[in-house]
Amino acid sequence: APVKKLQGLRFTITAGPTREAIDPVRYISNHSSGKMGFALAEAAVKAGAQVTLISGPVQLATPAGVARIEVLSAEQMLEAALAAAVNSDVFIGCAAVADYRVAEIATDKLKKGNDNELQLKLIKNPDIIASVAALTQQRPFTVGFAAETRNVLDYARQKLLNKRLDMICANDVSGSQIGFNSEQNAVSVIWRGGELDLPVQPKQQLAEQLIALISQHYKT
Ligand code: C5P
Repeated sequence: APVKKLQGLRFTITAGPTREAIDPVRYISNHSSGKMGFALAEAAVKAGAQVTLISGPVQLATPAGVARIEVLSAEQMLEAALAAAVNSDVFIGCAAVADYRVAEIATDKLKKGNDNELQLKLIKNPDIIASVAALTQQRPFTVGFAAETRNVLDYARQKLLNKRLDMICANDVSGSQIGFNSEQNAVSVIWRGGELDLPVQPKQQLAEQLIALISQHYKT
């Protein structure tokens, strides 16, 4: 049998988009497929970890052995993430959390008016991974993702510091071959003591390499 390097370690992983309601029938969201987060959950379980996967609405089957918690909004994801994080050794924030939500969700379906314009007021969502990284007790080793279209490494290094993460996986999403909704991905991983480029490859394979890298740097 393969060596289960992560036996006894508890992982919490967020994945997919969040969905922010406008009214009972409409919402704001994004194109995140959840594939990278689900691949990480599968790779962590295969390495022997106990995995909680907090997922926004996606069309993916739960990998065998993974405990899945389904959420819709960023606020729901935050609540689930904090509850799971305090009982975790490693937290990976792979979700594409909506930066903003609608300030006041209409209780009834919005009606089309005579006006040619409709204004929606948006307010900032909580930063889930920054909230986890800010925990003072029971803080897990915290790994983020940074999808960028330019200055990828610079922005990622800033996010590592600003969000107080232990590690960040920078993802160039300017091309369509990798990242969002694709089968492949490539990342530059940055931590406090170094950097490593992981080239374009299927998300499952990349996930295995990332989980191996996390297990090397976890509590070192
Ligand atoms: O700031 P940005 O959205 O680029 O940061 C990406 C990282 O932060 C990802 O790890 C993502 O899951 C996490 N994030 C979060 N909560 C937010 C926004 C981003 O956890 N509201």
